[in-house]
Amino acid sequence: MCGIVGYVGGKNAQDFLISGLKRLEYRGYDSAGIVTLDENGEATLLRAKGKISNLEEKLAKNKREDKIGIGHTRWATHGEPSEINAHPHQAGDIYLVHNGIIENYKELREHLTEHEFKSQTDTEVLAALVNSFYGNGKYPLVNAVVQALKLVKGTYGIAVLSTKNPDEIVVARSGSPLVIGVGTGETLIASDASALVGHTKQAIYLNDGEVARITKDSVEIKTLNAEPVSAKVEEIETNLAAIQKGGYEHFLLKEIMEQPKSLAETLRGRVNLEQGVVHLGGPGLSEQELRKIKHLIIVGCGTAYHAGLLASYYIEQFTPEITVETVIASEYRYRNAYIPENSVALIVSQSGETADTLACLREIKKQGTKTIGIVNAIGSTIAREVDGGTYVHVGPEISVASTKAFTSQVMAMVMFGLTIAQAKGAKPGSLKLYVEEIAKMPEMIEKTLKDVEGEVKKAAEKYKKYEHAIYLGRDTAYPTAMEGALKLKEISYVDANAYAFGELKHGPLALIDDRFFEVALVPEGPLYDKAISNVQEVLARGGHMLVITDTDFNLPVDDVIKISGELKIFSPILMNLVSQLFAYYMTVAKGYNVDQPRNLAKSVTVE
Ligand code: AGP
Repeated sequence: MCGIVGYVGGKNAQDFLISGLKRLEYRGYDSAGIVTLDENGEATLLRAKGKISNLEEKLAKNKREDKIGIGHTRWATHGEPSEINAHPHQAGDIYLVHNGIIENYKELREHLTEHEFKSQTDTEVLAALVNSFYGNGKYPLVNAVVQALKLVKGTYGIAVLSTKNPDEIVVARSGSPLVIGVGTGETLIASDASALVGHTKQAIYLNDGEVARITKDSVEIKTLNAEPVSAKVEEIETNLAAIQKGGYEHFLLKEIMEQPKSLAETLRGRVNLEQGVVHLGGPGLSEQELRKIKHLIIVGCGTAYHAGLLASYYIEQFTPEITVETVIASEYRYRNAYIPENSVALIVSQSGETADTLACLREIKKQGTKTIGIVNAIGSTIAREVDGGTYVHVGPEISVASTKAFTSQVMAMVMFGLTIAQAKGAKPGSLKLYVEEIAKMPEMIEKTLKDVEGEVKKAAEKYKKYEHAIYLGRDTAYPTAMEGALKLKEISYVDANAYAFGELKHGPLALIDDRFFEVALVPEGPLYDKAISNVQEVLARGGHMLVITDTDFNLPVDDVIKISGELKIFSPILMNLVSQLFAYYMTVAKGYNVDQPRNLAKSVTVE
C-alpha cells in the first residue's frame, strides 16, 4: 500500500518527510517523492523511481530549510512505476499526494482541458480537479479540495498544499487511512501512525468523509458537507523499539522470534487458569447475546483467512451447537449470501485496512449482523467500524509476511469461541484443557523456536533447489498447511500449495515427481494413522518429504522435524512456527528481499 507523510512546523520538513517515508517502506512501494515550500512558496519537488535511497541522492543536491511539505511512497495502480508517475503531482500552484483509486478519473480527465497532463495516473487528474476549483488562490484551498472530492468516485487518502499559502496543508480521507499527529508548534500527517512515533503521542484519526485544514498549531476538521467535526485526540501506543529491528537482520525473524511475548500480550488479563475460563471483554456482547449465537461467519484475506479457518476447527470442537463458516473476503463481498438470524461475523485483519475485508464488513453490517473485529492496528478503519472487537496487541507487524499476527489471531478467536461456550453453559471443567494449553502457549512457542531453528535452517538449505512444494495436513493441520504454503510462496517465490491429505487421491497425487518436495504436518491424534497412510502413498510415488510432527515418526521420509508433544490441542500452531522459520531461511538462502517481497504490500487497501 502507498504511504503518505506531511509536516508543517518549525523543523526541517525534508528531514521528517524522508524519515517518515522510511518508516512506511515496509508497506511496499515502487517509487517515492516529496515536495517542500519555502516561506515565499518556492517549491522543491523531488521524485524518484525505486527505493527511497534514490530519492535521497536527489535530496543531497537539493537540501532546503523549508518548514512545510508532503511526501509519498507509491505502489503503482494506474501507470507504471516511474518518476513521472510518482507523487506528489502538480497542477498550477498546488501539489497533491494520494492513496487509493479514483474510479471515475477517465471521465473527470476529459473535462480538465486546461491542464496539460504529464502522467498516466488517476492522482494527477485529482490534482487538476482541485486546481480547477482553486482559481489560482482566489478560493480557500480547503474549499477547492471539497468541491473536487464531491465529484470523485473511489477511495482516497490525500494531502494537498499550495505555493500561494505555504503554511497550510489540507488532508482528506475516504477508504484510505490518514492520521494527524499533534505536536508542539508542529503538525504532522501520515497514512500510518508508525511514521509519527518519536515525534508525538497525540493523534487524530481522520474518518471517511472528513477534510482537515492543518497549520503548525491548528487542526480544523469538517465533513464534505461543511459540518464541523470535533477532533478526538487519541494516544499513539507504539514506541520506537517496536518498529525497529532490535538487532535482527530482518523484521520477519524479529517478528517470528517475538511471538512468545506478542502472544502473551494477546492473552494478558484474558485467561483465568484457576477457574479454567477465559474472559474476552472487547466484543461487547452480553451473556444473553452470546447465548443466542447460532452461526459464526469468519471473514479475512490471506493469512487472516487461514487464521479464521484454523480457529473455526477449534471453535467447532467445543461449541457443537453453532455452525462456523470461514470465507475469503474478496469472494464473499460479491456473493449474495444469506446470513441467518443469531449470527455474528468475526472480521479478521492485522492492518485493519484491507479493502476487501473492509467492504465485507460494510456489506455484513447492512444486513444488521453484529460484527466483531479481530484486529492488530489500533485505530484502523476496520477497528473503528466494527460493532465491537478485540485488539490482538502484537505490536506493529512490519514484514509483509504475517507471522505473529496469525498466532494471536487464532488464539483470540479461540478465546472468543470459549467465551461463547462458557455463556452457553459449558460444563465447568470441560474447557479446562483448552484454557491450560492456551496459558502454556507462550512458553511452548519459546521452547519450539529454540528447539527447531538450527534444524530448520539446515532443511531450508537442502530444499532450496526445488521450485515446487506441496504442503499437506488433516483437520487442524490442514489450515496450518495452507498458512505454511502461503509463507513459503510469498517470500521465497517457490510455487507452494497446500492440500488436505484426504484430497491427495482426488488429483494432487498426480503431481508427485522430482520437481516437487512435500511438507507434511502430522500431529499425534485420532487422525494420525490416516496421515501415516497418506505419507506412504506419497513415498510410494517417490516423494521427497519433510515431516513436521510432535511424536515419534519411523517412516523412511527424507527429513523429520520433531517438536515437543506436550500440547495435544494447539500443536499445529507450534508446527506453524517451523513453517515460518522454514520460509524465512529458504528466502535468506535464495538471497531474496525477506521483508518486502516483490509485487506485494503489507496492507492491500485497493481491490
Ligand atoms: C500474509 O503473510 C500476507 N501478507 C497477506 O496474505 C495478508 O495476510 C492479507 O493481505 C491480509 O492482511 P490483513 O490481515 O492486514 O487484512
